[in-house]
Amino acid sequence: MDKEIFNKVYNAEDHEVLMDAYKDWAGKYDSDLAEEGYVAPAASAAVLQNYLDDKNAYILDAGCGTGLVGELLAKAGFTNQDALDYSREMLDEAAQKGIYKKLFQADLTKPLDIADNTYDAIICVGTFTYGHVGPDAFGELIRVTRNGGYICFTVREGAYEEHDYRKHMLKLEGEGCWELEELREADYIKGDNVTCKVCLYRVAK
Ligand SMILES: C[S@@+](CC[C@H](N)C(=O)[O-])C[C@H]1O[C@@H](n2cnc3c(N)ncnc32)[C@H](O)[C@@H]1O
Repeated sequence: MDKEIFNKVYNAEDHEVLMDAYKDWAGKYDSDLAEEGYVAPAASAAVLQNYLDDKNAYILDAGCGTGLVGELLAKAGFTNQDALDYSREMLDEAAQKGIYKKLFQADLTKPLDIADNTYDAIICVGTFTYGHVGPDAFGELIRVTRNGGYICFTVREGAYEEHDYRKHMLKLEGEGCWELEELREADYIKGDNVTCKVCLYRVAK
């Protein structure tokens, strides 16, 4: 794959540069990451599925990108998914997969124009990483998830430690916003020997 685009994405110094990188990458994202062994979507979808009995559960794929995660959940029988991303071009790719009910452009680092307690579950894969979205976004994800619903997300190794994710997660646990069900180490991009944390929380508020 084109390592230049990969480096641009992971070293973007601001949001504008990051979105510019995704604009260029959107059409090749799926094939490039398949080549690199990007396994985080499969690992995360497998974890979330274990907690959702109802195939009609209303799920938000936050930072959906081209829809790799939604595609896996759709294959597993989930029929009621929305998608959110900031990159118009990534959303356009995701729309072509025909698996989401609603797709909308929004910034996960800002207040979301979504009512409280809307979703039964949120899945957010590959988005808590360098130069993307930080742990301050958890508050909004919790707000838009119903009480008793689930939030499943990955955090890339390195960013997890450098941006004190565990501290933020524990603070929200202490405040009674969510309860940790699973926190496991998993492969992220196999070709680069990069790992991540896959986390699954039950919202309790
Ligand atoms: C590595 S991709 C992951 C996409 C998909 N979840 C997957 O696993 O293939 C990260 C996504 O996060 C999106 N993103 C980055 N910053 C964002 C923000 N502030 N708000 C919403 N989406 C953002 C990017 O546009 C990109 O589509």
